[in-house]
Amino acid sequence: MIIVIDGPAGSGKSSTAKTIANRLGIQFLDSGALYRAITYLWLKGGKPDKAEFFENLPKVQLQTEYRDQTFFVQADGEDLTDQIRTQHVADHVSEIASYKEARSFVNRYMRNLVTEGAYIADGRDLGTAVFPDADLKFYMDASLEERANRRFLEMRETDQSVSLEDVMKNLRSRDQKDQSRENDPLKKANDAVVIDTTGKSFDEQVSEMIQVIKGKTTLN
Ligand code: C5P
Repeated sequence: MIIVIDGPAGSGKSSTAKTIANRLGIQFLDSGALYRAITYLWLKGGKPDKAEFFENLPKVQLQTEYRDQTFFVQADGEDLTDQIRTQHVADHVSEIASYKEARSFVNRYMRNLVTEGAYIADGRDLGTAVFPDADLKFYMDASLEERANRRFLEMRETDQSVSLEDVMKNLRSRDQKDQSRENDPLKKANDAVVIDTTGKSFDEQVSEMIQVIKGKTTLN
């Protein structure tokens, strides 16, 4: 069973999906974290030539686990959970995610992972490209100002140097890149349920989505 949530950066997909996973007793899968992990590895390697980097990428052993409200990511045994959340990684992730080699690596990992159990996953292309037959699809959105403000408050907890202006610039540029790229762009699936969270409280949006899930799947 797989439920997917797509939408632009900072629309609240991950925090909502985590809460829903906890309430319904299912697993959470954060596809953005996997693109961030690849981006971190590319930056750590000193921004090597992309062809060479992608040729070696399939050898990387990814491991993920959702526990205690956190999506843990390891690559070749190194824990990357905190390192992938920096502004530096955010500034480069949409570029790396635009390459088809990055997308097929992440997609293969995700499709293998969800073969057993029930998952709620969030990303950009899950309902359109990765899991077109998902049991249920959501598309979450909110105004750019609201998304930037929420992401700013979240990032400030671990990175005091971040500014609201930088966060807004980054979201705008990532959305633009994610929507216009050739390989699996950010797009609402035709059969997705749209949730606009502008002006809604977190509890309201979670309750609304849980009601839809209970009405449309076997989960309760
Ligand atoms: O969800 P998050 O903001 O962590 O995602 C980081 C970046 O990873 C996005 O801006 C996008 O470029 C890329 N991404 C993607 N496809 C997904 C999930 C994330 O291209 N399914």
